[in-house]
Amino acid sequence: MNGLGILDELGLKYNTDKASKYTIRGNVIDGHDYLRQYEIFLAPLRDETFTLVELGCFTGASLKMWKEYFPAGHIVGIDLNSKLSSLEEDRISFICSNAVAGDLPEKLAVYNDILCIIDDCSHAWGDQRRSFEMLFPMLKSGGYYIIEDLECGAAGAYPAYPPEVMDAQVFWDYAMDRMRILRVSENRNPEKYRPFFGQLPVHIQELEKQIDMALIVPGSIIFRKK
Ligand SMILES: C[S@@+](CC[C@H](N)C(=O)[O-])C[C@H]1O[C@@H](n2cnc3c(N)ncnc32)[C@H](O)[C@@H]1O
Repeated sequence: MNGLGILDELGLKYNTDKASKYTIRGNVIDGHDYLRQYEIFLAPLRDETFTLVELGCFTGASLKMWKEYFPAGHIVGIDLNSKLSSLEEDRISFICSNAVAGDLPEKLAVYNDILCIIDDCSHAWGDQRRSFEMLFPMLKSGGYYIIEDLECGAAGAYPAYPPEVMDAQVFWDYAMDRMRILRVSENRNPEKYRPFFGQLPVHIQELEKQIDMALIVPGSIIFRKK
């Protein structure tokens, strides 16, 4: 009716857990149900020619979903598992890498039209923050950076996670810190707030200047680049 719902249909078709339902070992269970929300933002990009990068490929379900949803899009999957190079096909490329590897920006530098990055890999807060701070600057203006499955880093959710993850600050606070300081310091009262802003590492100051919006969907956060 409103032209939305196509992305979830494709998520169901390829069986990614981002969809409203997910089939695992023959059982249909509730999925994360992110796609209805993402589509509100992603629908205007549908006919654009651009690169979408996803961190974490697994079966390749979401890569195939993105490929069908964005008919002119180029999809780049990143994963630790080198065997997933078998997912490569027309309009789908694969890079074997850790999502937090320092040379990942260099490997992605050949793509100068990245409008969407989705982090769906380790789901550890520390990793999510490191990848975000490294890769968000690579997005084109107007692009989206989505971090999924934030609940996995919540204390006690996955006891097997390393202690570093459990010690990470609540991701929402982190996201809001990235937004808040700039808005106040740059636009409202620079004399009062600039000294505080200036205490942050330079790369974080630069990153904050680039965030236009942050939106929470249960389990996931969407940042838009200015
Ligand atoms: C949840 S699955 C991805 C699901 C896929 N995006 C989908 O929706 O169909 C997570 C994947 O992330 C990969 N992974 C885990 N930690 C990683 C890391 N630090 N860097 C890169 N890939 C990682 C795993 O090998 C696995 O294939």
